[in-house]
Amino acid sequence: MIVLNINGESRSVDVPDDMPLLWVLRDVIGLTGTKFGCGIAQCGACTVHLDGAAVRSCVLPVSAVGSKAVTTIEGVGASAVGKKVQQAWLDIEVVQCGYCQSGQIMSATALLAATPEPSDAEIDVAMSGNICRCGTYVRIREAIKQVATGQKVAPQTIPNVAPTASPAAAAAALLSFVRVEDMA
Ligand code: FES
Ligand code: FES
Repeated sequence: MIVLNINGESRSVDVPDDMPLLWVLRDVIGLTGTKFGCGIAQCGACTVHLDGAAVRSCVLPVSAVGSKAVTTIEGVGASAVGKKVQQAWLDIEVVQCGYCQSGQIMSATALLAATPEPSDAEIDVAMSGNICRCGTYVRIREAIKQVATGQKVAPQTIPNVAPTASPAAAAAALLSFVRVEDMA
């Protein structure tokens, strides 16, 4: 039996030591807000916090969590920064299909908690591991800046999606959401 601290609650799970945390969260505990994208730490859809740091739960064995606090998208709004990030996402109407957005919000919250006023370069580094096949990057950046500056921007002044990516980049983003086993 493994005991986890998830969103402030103690949860006991009877699972193999090497089961990825993502499987435990979704299939065992039923917290399905965290998404499966690639399964190989390449897309960021599965991002959760471990003691406040953004980690890829698809490649993190549950036995490696130990006593560290796990925060998922279901619990991130309990922190002041997480609540502001979620509000900014709503204000700026970031979401398109939504599949990547749990991971985006978790990465943005970890960034802003550690660096309240990030530079563009710091935003790029912190968010570079989170892929959005809908191309919501421009609005994600604006939402992060809203939290950092407190200044609201009218969503209709911001493009819905990033400037068109090259066909190769678009294909790579789509492939990142294809299950590896389906490609075998
Ligand atoms: S599902 Fe974990 S990084 Fe893609
Ligand atoms: S909003 Fe659709 S993948 Fe990001």
